[in-house]
Amino acid sequence: MYFNHGRAGTGKSALIDHYKAKSFAQEFTSTQRPVLVTRISAKRDLDNTLVQMLYDLDLFGASQYRRLGFGPNLEQKLVDALKLTKTELIIINEFQKILEYKSEQERQAIGNLLKYISEEAQVPIAFVGTPLAAQICEDPQWASRLIRRRRLKHFCFKDINERRYYLSYLKGLASRMPVEFPPDLASPPFAIPLFAATRGENRYIKTLLQEALILALQEKNNTVSLAHLSAAYTSLVSEGVNVFELPFEQLKLIEIETTLCSNSDMKTLDQAATGTQHTKPMNLNDILSVK
Ligand SMILES: Nc1ncnc2c1ncn2[C@@H]1O[C@H](COP(=O)(O)OP(=O)(O)OP(=O)(O)O)[C@@H](O)[C@H]1O
Ligand SMILES: [Mg+2]
Repeated sequence: MYFNHGRAGTGKSALIDHYKAKSFAQEFTSTQRPVLVTRISAKRDLDNTLVQMLYDLDLFGASQYRRLGFGPNLEQKLVDALKLTKTELIIINEFQKILEYKSEQERQAIGNLLKYISEEAQVPIAFVGTPLAAQICEDPQWASRLIRRRRLKHFCFKDINERRYYLSYLKGLASRMPVEFPPDLASPPFAIPLFAATRGENRYIKTLLQEALILALQEKNNTVSLAHLSAAYTSLVSEGVNVFELPFEQLKLIEIETTLCSNSDMKTLDQAATGTQHTKPMNLNDILSVK
């Protein structure tokens, strides 16, 4: 079993979509489902999770399980269905939801069931979720099953290698902008305030750039300028100073803390679910003097 985790907005769902699209690019018969993307059922019981999986396999007749209720032997039905659809990988997104199963026994039961299905149908399972889902790894039974783990992160600026990655990502975005002269987003005048505005969160980076691009296109401009970004920032963030108007010395950069959260540093589940940890605001001078 594989385990892929990352904070909200780090690209987990995008990775799944990409993987699914790639697998569907090949030719298949109508019953083949090489990749099953599913989730833990919102109704908190095991049977519903199995029904959810059958439903997500999208086989003819799957909807009858919802209508007619659950017959006996749902596990076996699912295993048979997985063989029929020649499924090669099951991906379970939003896996942190399993923590909503209150008792440890209930969680164990789901774990055992998924293991049984994975072994019987000979299909590996990949779990995807927020850092909260990583708590499951503190459980020795799960930990021994989740052999391969991978973490997706927000962008960072302080570390030079991570900064290079951020800059190359901006370059990539710029080259995809539908304007005659793409802006040099990886240059300091763009890249630095953009980080200050977004804390390296991709969702914000894309929203801000999209807004700026719309403004540029409305003006029939052949490039996206700092003025467009500044105006986009004002329209999206109504209060506080505009980071695109500030001199570099006054900019403060914040990164999303990359350390893993665990039970020990989060007092409640709620806190772990919502509490994003940030670094202290950093001055650009301090960052750039760090070698
Ligand atoms: N490889 C990528 N290249 C460009 N943009 C990306 C990439 N991966 C993700 N994104 C963008 O980042 C944003 C967040 O991605 P996504 O919704 O996949 O995050 P998530 O980790 O599933 O978040 P959540 O935990 O909230 O479900 C989206 O705007 C998405 O388009
Ligand atoms: Mg998602």
